[in-house]
Amino acid sequence: MNRKYLLVLVAASLIACNKSASYQDEPVRLRIPYKFPEIRFPEGNEPTKLRIGLGRILFYDNRLSTNHDMNCGSCHVLSSAFTDGKMVSTGRMGHEGRRNAPTLANIAWMPRLMMEGGVPTLEAQALAPLHDSLEMGFNMMAYVDELNEDEELRAIAKAAYGRDSIDPYVVTRSLAAFQRTFISGDSRFDRYRTGYKDELTHDEFEGMRLFYSDRTKCGECHSMPFFTDFEYYNIGLEEEYTDHGKERATHLAGDIGKFKTPTLRNIELTGPYMHDGRMNTLEEVVAFFNEGGRNHVNKDERIAPMNLTDEEQRQLVAFLKTLTDWNFVQNADLLPLVK
Ligand code: HEC
Ligand code: HEC
Repeated sequence: MNRKYLLVLVAASLIACNKSASYQDEPVRLRIPYKFPEIRFPEGNEPTKLRIGLGRILFYDNRLSTNHDMNCGSCHVLSSAFTDGKMVSTGRMGHEGRRNAPTLANIAWMPRLMMEGGVPTLEAQALAPLHDSLEMGFNMMAYVDELNEDEELRAIAKAAYGRDSIDPYVVTRSLAAFQRTFISGDSRFDRYRTGYKDELTHDEFEGMRLFYSDRTKCGECHSMPFFTDFEYYNIGLEEEYTDHGKERATHLAGDIGKFKTPTLRNIELTGPYMHDGRMNTLEEVVAFFNEGGRNHVNKDERIAPMNLTDEEQRQLVAFLKTLTDWNFVQNADLLPLVK
């Protein structure tokens, strides 16, 4: 018997018989943080141990890339809250990608994916990086064949989804099931909210007040509990945008320069910032908002000069750093399986 995945899947109810392994699946209840809504799972992809376990294998599996040199985890690195620390992601064979890799924290609740909102579900999303020649350079049929040569993987797929082989349905669903376990709601700010009032220092507290104030309006777009309202705005990064953002999906001139509000959870770990990674530090980001951005017909009217003092800008940055969830970025269940 191939014991490659044994270690991990002991936890995932592996019943190993003498010669052939058979797997038995069971439902999993994901722990939902305080004041987070319930997750709505698509029918047929409710969380189970083996669905999540299979997604975990595939997320970190180089067989999913043409040259066998990268996997989802190459650009979505747990210690950086599933970003890669690069300005724009470097894809297949070192080609420069176009966009900064976003965090995948709390992706289960995201109503529309990708920065221009073109992808409706996590199940469909997996096809996007798989097929983007700049990212993984995939050919669904080719890699599915290869995965099917792995008998143990097939046995897991059978128990998880009742399918006799690994097909695109199994790949996309299991990747989605694993990614829905990327739940982050245990930052110092969250503990403060559950009543531990001395979690925040004076500066962090003042920064929080500024964040939710009428002067900055940060909290209107970066709203609770995910620090995003999931809407699309032009914040005046450019007078002329090279990447048109939402307009690429809608072809409406009024959408030029609009990007999805990014979550600010774990923001300290997810730099560089903005869709093209143009800003390196949170100080730069806050200074940008304080100045009110550049002129653009589509710029949201809330982005305007704020006249924050240096101290107030420092406090705002201090508050943003309370949104880091260290338990999340050190959660061993989200790392590659030990083989
Ligand atoms: C070469 C780097 C790279 C690889 C490999 C990669 N991604 Fe991504 N991922 C990105 C970038 C860049 C974006 C942002 C694309 C955009 O919005 O246009 C992204 C976006 C996403 C999103 C949408 C996030 C959001 O907030 O809307 C999900 C989900 C995702 N990737 C999952 C995956 C999965 C699953 C894999 C493996 C099958 C994968 N990624 C492989 C770089 C990568
Ligand atoms: C009108 C809605 C809106 C307001 C108000 C707003 N933001 Fe944003 N914010 C966005 C959008 C949209 C982006 C992404 C822009 C892009 O990538 O082109 C963004 C990006 C960011 C980023 C970078 C995130 C990343 O992962 O790259 C940070 C940090 C941030 N905002 C903090 C703030 C702070 C602090 C304030 C208040 C001073 C604020 N925002 C006010 C909508 C808003």
